[in-house]
Order: sequence, then structure tokens, then C-alpha cells
Amino acid sequence: MSEFKRTFITAALPYANGPLHIGHLAGCYLPADLYARFKRLAGERVLFICGSDEHGVPITISADKEGVSPQVIVDRFHSLNKASFEKLGISFNYYARTTSPVHRETSQQFFLTLYNGGFLVPREEPQLYDEQAKMFLPDRYVEGTCPVCSNPNARGDQCENCGTYLNQTELIDPRSKVTGTKPVIRPAKHWYFALSRFQKQLEDYIESHRHDWKENVLQAARSWLKAGLQDRPITRDLTWGVPVPLEGAEGKVLYVWFDAPIGYISATKEALDEAINPSSRLLEPDEKDWRLWWQNKDTQWVAFLGKDNIVFHTILFPAMLLGHNEAEKEHRYVLPQNVPANEWMNLEGQKLSKSRGWTVELHEIIERYPSDVIRYAFATMLPEQKDSDFVWKEFQARANNELADIFGNFANRTLTFAKRNFDNKIMGNRNELDSDGSALLSFFGTRAKDIQGFYERFRLRDATSATMDLARAANKYFNDAEPWKLIKQDRDKAAQVVRSCLEALRALAVYFSPITPNASASILKTLGANAAEENWSNAHEPKLHGQTEIGDVEILFPKIEDETMEEEVKRLQVMAASVESREIAVAKANASSVASTDGASALISIDEFKKIKLRTAKVLEAERVPKSKKLIKLQISLGEERRQIVAGIGEKYTPEDLLGKTIVVVANLQPAKLMGNESNGMLLAVNDENGVVALVGPESTAESGLEVR
Ligand code: 2FM
Ligand code: ZN
Repeated sequence: MSEFKRTFITAALPYANGPLHIGHLAGCYLPADLYARFKRLAGERVLFICGSDEHGVPITISADKEGVSPQVIVDRFHSLNKASFEKLGISFNYYARTTSPVHRETSQQFFLTLYNGGFLVPREEPQLYDEQAKMFLPDRYVEGTCPVCSNPNARGDQCENCGTYLNQTELIDPRSKVTGTKPVIRPAKHWYFALSRFQKQLEDYIESHRHDWKENVLQAARSWLKAGLQDRPITRDLTWGVPVPLEGAEGKVLYVWFDAPIGYISATKEALDEAINPSSRLLEPDEKDWRLWWQNKDTQWVAFLGKDNIVFHTILFPAMLLGHNEAEKEHRYVLPQNVPANEWMNLEGQKLSKSRGWTVELHEIIERYPSDVIRYAFATMLPEQKDSDFVWKEFQARANNELADIFGNFANRTLTFAKRNFDNKIMGNRNELDSDGSALLSFFGTRAKDIQGFYERFRLRDATSATMDLARAANKYFNDAEPWKLIKQDRDKAAQVVRSCLEALRALAVYFSPITPNASASILKTLGANAAEENWSNAHEPKLHGQTEIGDVEILFPKIEDETMEEEVKRLQVMAASVESREIAVAKANASSVASTDGASALISIDEFKKIKLRTAKVLEAERVPKSKKLIKLQISLGEERRQIVAGIGEKYTPEDLLGKTIVVVANLQPAKLMGNESNGMLLAVNDENGVVALVGPESTAESGLEVR
């Protein structure tokens, strides 16, 4: 039992901008739920909240692309993601949305408190302005050339090629993504949060946790502090978001990373309001005040999140809370007591990537496998200390060889044997265990303390495997006791063994309940056990009532076939290949849009044709793009100039075929990215309906870089 009276658990509010995938589950939401369920079972007061983060520029970009309002996008993905969490048994007390009125008011009030306390200061800084669209451009609405690595498609906030964080005005040749025009620089007024004033307090805060926080989290926080904290603008020129509650700030909203973490506070308010969240009536009356969870030293706040969110939860939001505490001394917020962020989960040896089609989305996987199977398998593969790799074969092995063959098998053999031989009833009374059976249960009691330690230290993989070890021990007991022989020799002794097995099964159902809540509930029901009487520390004590009718025995964990796993891998490959073909098609379409402005089949003038710069080029280097059948990456020379192009000719040519060849390329094509590789131009090839049949090149040797007309 911890020193705190209440455990307040948050899971990072996911953006309502797309479906969640298995990386989210393993990185944040499953660990948070395992912990929350464990804490409740340990008898602690728990409030577990989450919700959709519904602001931010990526959402408005998605909306622009579809030609709908941002509300349409967030409504769609809020419902989808909420439903996925429910089906996976993620036991939030409440799932909020940052577009709610309570959130708007809470964020604005928080802003004003910081503002009145002198922590938010207006400042004018140069910013890119699109004169045609008459708007300042948010970082994600501008692209240009990276000043560090010359990537021509760097974003306004970051270059994805070299990883450098950029200031949008540093981009070379910036382009507005709204109109395609070149923006100008104008001064823009924004409110800056005085983050630098919290350097020392945050250093003390982080170091006070050097013994209880995970190393990856400490390192991320320390590296920010080491770089020195800078004041940050926390307003943006946008219409989608929480409006800045000041006169003269019309057309400005709060930066999404300012309002999102305040979402934890507004979600708490909503969670405790019976009119908004009817299930809050189940809480004790004294737990219904939101300040109890936020502004009381007896509360321990544990914030679960993925690796990319560490700095916001260990630096930015804590600083906002510290500022608020200084501005309003009578209401002091707690800071996260722990931030057990995970690393990344990869998929079949590659980075998860939605845009590459290399992903498994939660709303899909949950339609194909029972939630308990997903939960158990992922609990064994959590990326707690380092990145982990999700492999379908291992998913199957965990599901079949452990969950079904150990825990499921013990449940099945115990219940079947008891029903068949003892008239469908639980025999004897709770004290009638054989000595080995008693020993098994007391072993459970001892190990349960160790497992509790694993949960308390966020070692959830260890907790999971140690729980499975209890089921292993139960099977060993069954095998050693040989009740199928005993029943013929000594029926009373056999009854004691069976009773021990039934008590062990009940205890296992309790120990497994954070991991496999459905199977656990079903076992307890079959045994006629009272779930309300069960908790982590008394689960090993015998409790079943004699003469209770044993309910129906169902298969808890159906086995997964080999073919099913093969289909999963194939599904991934097909998705990735179709993304690849789509990218090639888009690159070609871009090429044809340079050639023709009024339709592919219309006649063009000689002047229009002259717009296309065709050049001879020599292939200097060629290699296949990893994981792609079609794509080959070429380094070519165009006379003086060297370039990289990526071409979909890999089914017809090998890299060796191409070395030294002179080809013809479209030299003035907009750059494109194919599977993450920059392509600056397109080679010409003859195609039939099956694809490429031959490359186009000069009939005799020609220098590279010459014009083709
Ligand atoms: O990374 C994300 O998905 C963010 N929407 C997380 C926000 S966490 C909290 F601050 F709300
Ligand atoms: Zn770069």
C-alpha cells in the first residue's frame, strides 16, 4: 500500500486525427490500464482519465484536405478511438474531449491566472505571412529547404530528414502550403510563457525523482534542462482551438500543447460531475471534488504517455502548474509523481508507420481477436526499457502456448474434472484443502507481494510473466496430485485436491484480472465467487462456498491458427505495397501536371512542351530501396550536377543492369518522396499494361546533361 491516499492516473490525450494503432496501446494505454486495474484491486482510491486531444494544426490540415470542418474530423476519430478503448477493456473513469465547454473555460481561466501572475508576456517576433491568403502561417502550413541538410521539403517546425528543430523563418525558399506562394516576413504578436524562470525549480523536481523515475524519462528531461529553457510562444494565429481570452487577441488561439494538458484538469471536473458522467455516482462523496485529485498532497498523480510526450509532461506542464501555484498560492497543484513513459514498439522488424501502411490499427485488431488475448500478448511485449518488436508469430505463441495452454488449460481441466466427478458442485468446505494445495495457495500469497512490487515499479512485463508463473505452478500441482488416479483410490482426498484446484483457479482469476479482465470475471462467475470480496492481498485465502453449483465451462482463450498469422503478415505487405504504388502514381501524376494544364489528352503547344526539361543522365550508383520490390534509388549525373532519383523499375531491372547507363530524365520535376526517399526528377521508360518494358536513352553514347528535344 502506498503512502498516498489516492492514485490519480492519466493517459496522454490522443489526437482525434486518425485511428490509434498498436504502438499507442503498448506505449501508453495498456500500461496505464494494467496499473489502474491493479491499484483498484489493491484497494486504493483511483481515478483514471483520458480523452481526445481535438486541437492542433494537423487536424485542420486533415479537414482542409477533405474539404470538411475540423469538427467533422474530431467527431469521427473521437468516436472511433473511444470505442476501441472500450472494446479493449481500457477502464477509464471518463473519456473527455478538449472541444468541450468545460475545457474551454478551464483553459482560459488557467491562461488568465498565469497572465495575471506575470508569466505570460506579449512579444512581437517575425513570422511568415501569406499575402494571398491574408494569414500568418502556422509552422505546419509552411515548407521550404532545410538550412542544415538542404532537404527541400522541411516543415516549418522541424526537418524530418535531419531531425533539426527549426524556426519557420529559417527555412530557405519557404512555400505556403495554403496557396503555394512565397510568404513574406511580418512581425506577429504572441504571448510567451516564461518557461526560463522555472529552470531551477524544474531541475530540483526532476532530480528529486532520480531514484524512482525510469532512466529514459530522466534522460529526456535532463537533456532539455541542460540545453537551457527558453520562453515559448503559447498562442497561435488560427481559428481552431481555445480562443485567447484577452482583448486584442482576436483570431488567436492557445497553442495545442498549452491547452491539451489542461485537458487533464477539465476532464477531472467532467469525470466527477454526475450530470456529465453518470458513473461518477459510484465514487465516495468525498471524492467528487476535483481539487481533491489535483490540489491535495495525499494524491499521487501518475502520468502515462509515449516517449514523444515526455518533455511536455516533465517540463512544460509542470512549469505551467508551478506558475499557477505561484500566482494562486492558496490552490497549489500537485506535479506528476511519476511519468512512466515507454519506448517505441516496432512492427515485424520495421518502424510502425501509418503513411507507409506498416501499421495495425486498434479498431481492426479488436475485431479479429478477443480483447484478453490482445491484452495479455501485448503485456508481455511492452517496450518498457527499450524499443520492442511486435511479431505476429510471437503474438500467436503468447496466446496459444501461454494464455491458452497454461492459464486456460488449468481453468478447463479443473472445472471439467470437478463438474464431472462431483456432481457439478464445489465439494466440501473452505478448510478442506490437502497439504500441497494449501502450500500452493500460500506460495501464491508470497509471490503476490513480489508481483505487487513489479506493478508499483511499473515493471508490467515482469508482473505479467510472474502472474503466468502462478498458473504454471497450479498446473504442476494438478499434474503431481494426479486427481484422475486419486478419485479411484480415495475419493475424499481427491475432493480436497479438487477443492484446492478450484481455490487456486479463483485466486488466479483475481491475479490475472488486471491483464485478462473478461476471462477473470467469467471464471469468478462460473465458481459463484463474489468478486466484491476479492482483492490483491487476500486472493490466496480460500473462500469458495461448498455446494455451490459450478457454472458452464467455456473455452476462455481460443487458439490462433498458423494461417491466421500468415494472413496478418500478408495483409501488412499488401498495405505497404499499395501505398508504394500510390506514391509512384502520385509522382507520375505530378509529372503529367507539369506537362499539361488542361487534361492529358489535349494538344499542347511547342512552348508548353518546352517547359519540360528533358536531359541525358548517367547512372553513377544504383541500389534497391529496402522493403520495396519496385523502387530503385539512383544517383545520376546531369553534367556538372549530381542528383538522386527514385524510379519504379525494380521488377524489370536490377541495380547492376543500370550502372553506367545513359538515360533520359525530366529534370525540372517537383521533388517527391517515395518510401521516405527524395526523388529529384523522373526517368523516362516505355510502359505497357504490365509496367516498365524498356528504358529510354540515346541510341549511341552521349554525354550526360545534354538537352533532349
Ligand atoms: O501526442 C499526442 O497524441 C498528444 N495529443 C498528447 C497530449 S497529452 C496531454 F497533454 F494532453
Ligand atoms: Zn534537414
